[in-house]
Amino acid sequence: MKILLFGASGMIGQGVLRECLLDADVSAVVAVGRKASGAEHAKLRDVVHRDFLDFSAVATEFAGVDACLYCLGVSSAGMSEADYRRITLDFTVSAAKMLLAQSPRAVFVFVSGAGTDPAPRGSTMWARVKGQAENALLAMPFRGAYMFRPAYIQPLHGVVSRTRLYRALYAVTSPLYPLLKRALPKYVTTTERVGRAMLVVAKQGATKRVLESADLDALAGPPTP
Ligand SMILES: NC(=O)c1ccc[n+]([C@@H]2O[C@H](COP(=O)([O-])OP(=O)(O)OC[C@H]3O[C@@H](n4cnc5c(N)ncnc54)[C@H](OP(=O)(O)O)[C@@H]3O)[C@@H](O)[C@H]2O)c1
Repeated sequence: MKILLFGASGMIGQGVLRECLLDADVSAVVAVGRKASGAEHAKLRDVVHRDFLDFSAVATEFAGVDACLYCLGVSSAGMSEADYRRITLDFTVSAAKMLLAQSPRAVFVFVSGAGTDPAPRGSTMWARVKGQAENALLAMPFRGAYMFRPAYIQPLHGVVSRTRLYRALYAVTSPLYPLLKRALPKYVTTTERVGRAMLVVAKQGATKRVLESADLDALAGPPTP
């Protein structure tokens, strides 16, 4: 299975990349980013690309792909709606269109987030724009398009967020993770489990196209001891 991965340098992307590299069914991972992922592995190839609104220069990288795991994204904090929309919606749709053109039988998995609002005129900016991205992807004729809506994600295996605010937050919450998992099991998962769930969906599909935290966590199988 050939995986096209976006956001491999980020918190979720690092976790997803780890699971892809460990999975015997994955033969190749092509990580597209504005800089290299920072990881090295025989199965991994970094493609550094600048213009996320035009992938024509790297179109061949989108060929022969079985699944695109799209973990690129930003926090909306301090951003204008136009800037947030450009990264969250326009970049995503641009990548999805190129994938459809080059690999029409691919599966597309998109990380949106808990609270994403599919209503076109929802009142919260980030939730509305993420919802528009979900709607655009769900309307495209992929073999499968799946929207992942995690809530709290515990980074494991040395994974760190690219976002300073989140790094500070995780420094505080990480020691509380076992408590959080017990108290709020429906809203807590890990980078490892998000990656595993993505690979399950890439291989077998899922009964739901929009997966909330508990749905995707259940797909990841029994917890690792
Ligand atoms: N972390 C959570 O707990 C959580 C929960 C629910 C949903 N989410 C969503 O999941 C997505 C990823 O979150 P994360 O925590 O993994 O974020 P992160 O650690 O900040 O990583 C973001 C990734 O997106 C890339 N990226 C950001 N802006 C870009 C741009 N303008 N051009 C190209 N690449 C860009 C980053 O690349 P660079 O390394 O080049 O900056 C990095 O690979 C986001 O959409 C977030 O809303 C996260």
